[in-house]
Amino acid sequence: MTTANAPLWAVAPDDRRDAFVPDAHCDVLVVGAGATGLAAAASAAEHHADVIVVDAHHPGALTSGRSTGKITFLQGVRLSTIRDRTSMEVAAAYLDATRIGAERIRALCADGPGYEVAPAYSYATTEPGVDALAAERQVANDLGLPVVDTSTPELPFDVSAALRLDDQFMIDPGVLVGRLVSSARQHGARIISGCTATAVHASDDGYDIETGLGPIRAGAVIVATGTPFLNRGMHFARLEASRSFVAAFRGETAPLRGMYLSVADDTKSLRPAHAHGADHLIVSGGHHLVGRSDSPAQRVAALHEWASAQFPGLRLTHTWAAQDYESTDAAPYVGPIHLGENGILVATGFAKWGLAASVAAGIALAESVRDDAPSWVKQMQAGKGRGDAGRLVARNAEVVAQLVSGAAHATMEGSPDEPAEGQGAVGFEHGRLTGVCRIDGETHRVSAVCTHLGGTLRWNDAEHSWDCPLHGSRFRFDGARIEGPAREGLRTHSDVPHRGE
Ligand SMILES: Cc1cc2nc3c(=O)[nH]c(=O)nc-3n(C[C@H](O)[C@H](O)[C@H](O)COP(=O)(O)OP(=O)(O)OC[C@H]3O[C@@H](n4cnc5c(N)ncnc54)[C@H](O)[C@@H]3O)c2cc1C
Ligand code: FES
Repeated sequence: MTTANAPLWAVAPDDRRDAFVPDAHCDVLVVGAGATGLAAAASAAEHHADVIVVDAHHPGALTSGRSTGKITFLQGVRLSTIRDRTSMEVAAAYLDATRIGAERIRALCADGPGYEVAPAYSYATTEPGVDALAAERQVANDLGLPVVDTSTPELPFDVSAALRLDDQFMIDPGVLVGRLVSSARQHGARIISGCTATAVHASDDGYDIETGLGPIRAGAVIVATGTPFLNRGMHFARLEASRSFVAAFRGETAPLRGMYLSVADDTKSLRPAHAHGADHLIVSGGHHLVGRSDSPAQRVAALHEWASAQFPGLRLTHTWAAQDYESTDAAPYVGPIHLGENGILVATGFAKWGLAASVAAGIALAESVRDDAPSWVKQMQAGKGRGDAGRLVARNAEVVAQLVSGAAHATMEGSPDEPAEGQGAVGFEHGRLTGVCRIDGETHRVSAVCTHLGGTLRWNDAEHSWDCPLHGSRFRFDGARIEGPAREGLRTHSDVPHRGE
């Protein structure tokens, strides 16, 4: 059994731990201490706003601290995908955001450990991939990026075509999170870990925010929670939550110098990393929609097998996973949570390429609170969602199908048996949809109904979590909320006797 929960990167522990003060007031409340929220907090505090950041876990706990740390403008075929689904103007705005964020990250991380300049490659091993790369090169060149056709002599396998962009860079995401935390605190922001925001109510002079630790009052709220934790604006219906696995392999020398991403196949991401005093190869893959894979553990195993076959002699040291959200038109959304609600701002939809764009989005949201949105945000908002009606309908039809098939599947399974160690199953017990799993010899029973909008959860055998196939919420084996639009954990069924008792 593979457990996938040990990142190579060490996100520095939050040793200052600001205390929660009930009924605290602030100018700006930032919900979420990933790259977006921390950049927003640092920027708002730098401009003299009184800022509080709350995070359900701790800074960098979810996607930002678990990414692969590549900062490049050559992102597979992302520019051409955004262009195809929106317009050249939106692709240009996205590139502007990435430039702004990359510069900020360079300024924060260039003198620290883990920072490395390297060429970025996108490569294809299939015919559709070759066509997609040609389109990407065209859009990139039209936008002024010196992307060129290239070969990939470093790779130990054949590719059909490849693109290269020189002078990009890689970071240790743990260092980025640490530097963003320091920058926010240096300007006076307070960061409160272990504090889940559950609701926001508009009041005469701002917003009252409910959190698991108590209420907070703020003049404006920045929602930087990956997918927004608030349902207003219905962002969850436009977003697709997908997870990937990442594995670190240790070697005598770095097996690669460049960073690589394959397109139009079972996507693999590769980069070297020097960490813990040794050279590593980082391999990411096993992409799957949250809660829709029969066995995520098989995907991790396949990723390990592929990497070991391509790069023999390396030793697997770490495996972890993370998820990100992609909107139907592929471009991030940065702005008011919905029209007319200018005091609640969100940034989402970074599609596994958000380190630079999320930092730019955080800065832009702080700017929007004190003044006006920057031009790239306005350009992006003007062109977003243009041609994505068909994709939106298809995505939500699939969500409805998952809603129906989840419960039907559980009905067929009946009452879940005692699962084997590390396994879990969903079925009906005493008329209730119940998830039963066994971890470290102990059996846990939880409600298998997602607390967001009622999706039937599925067991994730790689990470020992209950995952929702509808909008990507995830819960620990014992029902505690991990991430996604759900705001509460699962009801536990410790009161329900299991079969045979
Ligand atoms: C496998 C993988 C590899 C990636 N690699 C790269 C890469 O190489 N380069 C790149 O540019 N991008 C990469 N990305 C994408 C990038 O990491 C993300 O787009 C970016 O980190 C998103 O940042 P965020 O702040 O929006 O979200 P997060 O980092 O997820 O932060 C959200 C925070 O909100 C908190 N939160 C959630 N709900 C609540 C609540 N209700 N109350 C309080 N707090 C809450 C969470 O605890 C979390 O800390 C990768 C993504 C994945 C999944
Ligand atoms: S995440 Fe929406 S129903 Fe589960």
